[in-house]
This record gives sequence, C-alpha cells and structure tokens, in this order.
Amino acid sequence: MSARINPNVVYLPTRAIQSAARRFSTPFFIYEESRIRANCERFRNTFRRYFPNFTPLFAVKANTNPALLRLIFSEGFGADASSEAEAWITRRLGATGMYTGNYTTEAEFRFVLKTGHFRFNLDDISMLPTLRKIGVPKFLSFRVNPGISQGGMKSLFLAGPDAKFGVPARDVVKAYRQAQALGVRRFGIHAMTGSNVLDERYFAAVADKLLAIAGEVKKATGIDFECLNVGGGFGVPYRPEQPCLNLDQVARGIRRIFDRQCVRYGLREPVLMAEPGRLIMADTGWLVGRVHVVKHSSKTFVGIDAGMNDLPRPAIYDAYHHVTVVGKPPHGRKEPVNVVGRLCENNDQFAKDRRLPVIAIGDLIAIHNAGAHAYAMGHNYNNRPRSTEVLITRSGALKKIRRAETIRDLFQTTP
Ligand SMILES: Cc1ncc(COP(=O)(O)O)c(C=O)c1O
Repeated sequence: MSARINPNVVYLPTRAIQSAARRFSTPFFIYEESRIRANCERFRNTFRRYFPNFTPLFAVKANTNPALLRLIFSEGFGADASSEAEAWITRRLGATGMYTGNYTTEAEFRFVLKTGHFRFNLDDISMLPTLRKIGVPKFLSFRVNPGISQGGMKSLFLAGPDAKFGVPARDVVKAYRQAQALGVRRFGIHAMTGSNVLDERYFAAVADKLLAIAGEVKKATGIDFECLNVGGGFGVPYRPEQPCLNLDQVARGIRRIFDRQCVRYGLREPVLMAEPGRLIMADTGWLVGRVHVVKHSSKTFVGIDAGMNDLPRPAIYDAYHHVTVVGKPPHGRKEPVNVVGRLCENNDQFAKDRRLPVIAIGDLIAIHNAGAHAYAMGHNYNNRPRSTEVLITRSGALKKIRRAETIRDLFQTTP
C-alpha cells in the first residue's frame, strides 16, 4: 500500500510559475500571498481560541523580504529579530517586537535600543553589564536553556548541554535577581529549543519547563511574568508522506499545562507568545530553476541554473525538499536522477536518486518548501548573484518583489 500523499507538500501553483518563467529569467523564488495569509490566520486564530491575548511574532530571519514582512505584519504579527538589519527593517515597516540576539555586541545593543521598537530578550546573564552601560529598559526577558530539545535533525536542536543558546539553569534566578536590582520592573521568559518539530506534545513540554522555571524565579524574587514565549520551531512536512503539525493539539496541550502549572506555582498567567518562521512561510514559496544540462554519468545528473547559494538547506543539513518537474504529469514514465546546481561543491545537490518524470533541457524544476530559511540563508559563494523574488498576489497578478543581483552588485563594496 502506498503512503498517503500530503497535498500541502506537493501543491504547486503551476500556471503562475509557467507565466512567471515567461516574464522573468530563472532562477527565481515565487511566493503565494493567499497561502501566507492563510498560514498567519490559522496560527493566530488557533492559539487565540485557547489564549485570547496570544501574541504572535514572526521570526524575521526565516524570510526578510520587506514585501512579505509587510503582509505578515498586516496579519497582526510582530517581529522576532536577531540582527541589526532585522531590527532596522522591522522599524522601517512600522512594526515592533522582541530582539533575541546571541553573543550580542555593545554596538548591536545600542543600535537596536535606538530603534525604540524592541523589547530585549537576553541570551545570557553576562550581557547585563552591557545593558547597564547603555540604559536599563523597564522590560526584560531572558532566553533560558530549559535542558530539553528536539528538531527536524540534530543540527536543529537548540538547547541542552551542547547548545550555545540560553541562560543555563543554574544562572536563571541570579539573572532575574540582578536585572531586578538594576531597575527592571517588567519581565518575560523565553525559550527556543529546536526547529522543525513535528511532535505536538513537545510544545507543551517546553511550556511546562518554562512555567517551572518561572515558578522558581517567582519564589526567589517575587517576580510575576508579563509574558512567556515558547519560541518558534513549529515544524512543516518536507516529504510528501509526512502529515502536518496539528496546531490545535499544540495550543490545547499548552493550555492544559498553563491551567495546571500557573496554579501550582502561584503564577499570574503570563501572556503567551510564540515566534514561528518556518510554519508561516515554508510552504508558501518555491525555488524555480531551468534545466540546462542533462548528464548521463554513473547517475543521471540534471543541472539547473539555481544552486546551493539560493537554497543551502540540502547542502548544509542534508535536508529533503520535494521536487516537481513543472507541468509534467507525475504519473508518466519516471527515471532516477540527481537534481544539482552550478556550484563547485559536490554537496550542491537538491535531490538525490529521486524518481522524476523524464527531464529534458529547458524544463522548469520547482523545489518546494522554499519560503523559509531559503533565500534568507542564501549566499554568494562562487560569486553567484542572488535570485529574483516574485509574489503571486491574491488577485493572481505576478509582482516582482526583489530583482536579481548583478555582477556589479557583487563588487560594489570593493574599491
Ligand atoms: C530565536 C529564534 N526564534 C524563532 C526561530 C524560528 O524558528 P522556526 O523557523 O523553526 O519557527 C528561530 C530560528 O532559528 C530562532 O533562532
């Protein structure tokens, strides 16, 4: 019996991609506005059913295109920013949010503070002296390392003993006590323990740990937390046979933990916050490249004009991305191929031994789930310019939302 195919993973706006390929040169990223809005709405509304004051932030690092950020902010999301540039663009678009840097420099703190648009979430107690120097805010949150972690792959585990992130358990009470002594009056608590988690129960486990830590801090310092941020990490299926994360179960699980543990630890219920990136954007975008070479060697290598510089996830995480030959019926004759890019790296391969409809030069290849941690993670290795980005608007129009870089762009910072 064949596994059930998840329509969400294999969905492709074929006609829009074909018409974009007639208007714009490949490679390009293409995003669908209606899916972005639907993801925002589903996330926000599901949590608000259980937490009326739920505050969603979007992890700007997942996709920083201003046109897309504008859409997401218009859906009631704030920003989770992690660098000066992310803080800058958030402010420019008139949004506010939380700033979670790690190993943050003094200059970075000053820059973000000056925007006036962010609440700070500190990654360690050792950053307090820097804050004292530049001006102690009224509100402060700490990213804690609650000692548990999960992720779509080992490199996406972001907490536990090997993680560089978060205040270690032994320092948490001390951190809040010192912040209190510095004059901070309002507090938050945050964790980001892993990415691409598809286990619904995990998020309640994180909330449970955070409430236990909040209870310990309250007992020692009297602090009542204004907000509790469970971070991002809400997974999406990358393989057609994987199911979607059941968000209702996630939110319900956290609600149950809040009901039990706020009473147990004598906490006033904090506002629940979360900061998804992948769940909002991954399945709303595709990277489209054209086939320029079909090489029959020990295997058949299909070379497209995109590369790991556009979408580094397969190269750096060995991540799976679904691939479609645009416009070719999926039920015809198939052959196993490796779909590869143009960079001088052997891990520049989007798909390995994948059975795809027979491919010819000139065909368009779409790589799915390219809306999050894709363009934003891209780079210029081999001096490959970054690609165009296109939006399919709600009315079906195609709008260029970023031009491709030129060779001149690559050298404009050199004398
Ligand atoms: C602090 C923080 N918050 C949120 C996110 C978003 O994670 P995801 O895209 O898995 O939801 C990340 C991603 O690395 C992160 O580091």
